[in-house]
Amino acid sequence: MDRERLERVAEIGDFIALRNPTAAADLVPAAVGRAAKPDRIRGMKIVVLPAQAAYDRWAATYDVKRNPLVAMDRKVLDKRLDAVGRDLNGARALDLGCGTGRNSYLLQNAGAKVTAVDFSKGMLDVGISKAGAAEIRFVTHDLNEPLPFADAAFDVVVCTLVLEHIEQLSPLFREMRRVCSPGGWLYLSDLHPMMRLRGEQAQFSDRVRDEEVRPRGYAHMVSDYVTGILEAGLSIREMDEHIGTEALVERFPKTEEHIGWPMLLTFVLDPTQL
Ligand SMILES: C[S@@+](CC[C@H](N)C(=O)[O-])C[C@H]1O[C@@H](n2cnc3c(N)ncnc32)[C@H](O)[C@@H]1O
Repeated sequence: MDRERLERVAEIGDFIALRNPTAAADLVPAAVGRAAKPDRIRGMKIVVLPAQAAYDRWAATYDVKRNPLVAMDRKVLDKRLDAVGRDLNGARALDLGCGTGRNSYLLQNAGAKVTAVDFSKGMLDVGISKAGAAEIRFVTHDLNEPLPFADAAFDVVVCTLVLEHIEQLSPLFREMRRVCSPGGWLYLSDLHPMMRLRGEQAQFSDRVRDEEVRPRGYAHMVSDYVTGILEAGLSIREMDEHIGTEALVERFPKTEEHIGWPMLLTFVLDPTQL
């Protein structure tokens, strides 16, 4: 087996081991699993860091490199904003894991009063450096802790490309529901679990240190999202699994190997149970 294939098999072994260690041992013998995981990719050392430290390092280049998941996510959120007439005038919006503020500014431009939350100072600093930042309330906070906001404080809650870094989804889903007012809506997106099975995860190349940095992530199943959402008392209005297409490959040639594979998982939610 070539190196890339071995890495994929090792990833699958890790994923299955989380759910069923016996099956993992049967399906992916140790000799083919962890022991064979390469520690370098394209000549760069692979480094797994706690998400906060990793994003602090990623911040300077996060907005520079075009990312297919970001493009897919943007399309869905745009469709959602079109559905509400692009009119969030006066709506109170919360962007959880806002990063450099990509969606915070989108919501602000649609007229919302935005609160943007992240635990990476590096990412927040980039967000705060952009034009219009004075209108956005940036808050440093770890999403593994209860949200520092009152019940029903927001009309719109978004959390995009963040959940792969959250080990326990349910407490965060409960908090999202608590802070979203009845009549409001929520939008969530995440790397599709099938991408993780294919060895994909959030990562960036740190050319200065010659390292491939991977913010620590956790393997969730689609059912973890769905049951967590329903148990939190949220309703699923829309759920989509966005597949790699030829059109995406035209814009992002490296996605060719993902044609036909689910790449992004998205949900539009209602804070009340139907
Ligand atoms: C891939 S970026 C996505 C940023 C933005 N939502 C977007 O779609 O462009 C993931 C962000 O989640 C943040 N994040 C991850 N785990 C977090 C946590 N426990 N608390 C707060 N922020 C977190 C990271 O710091 C990073 O800014």
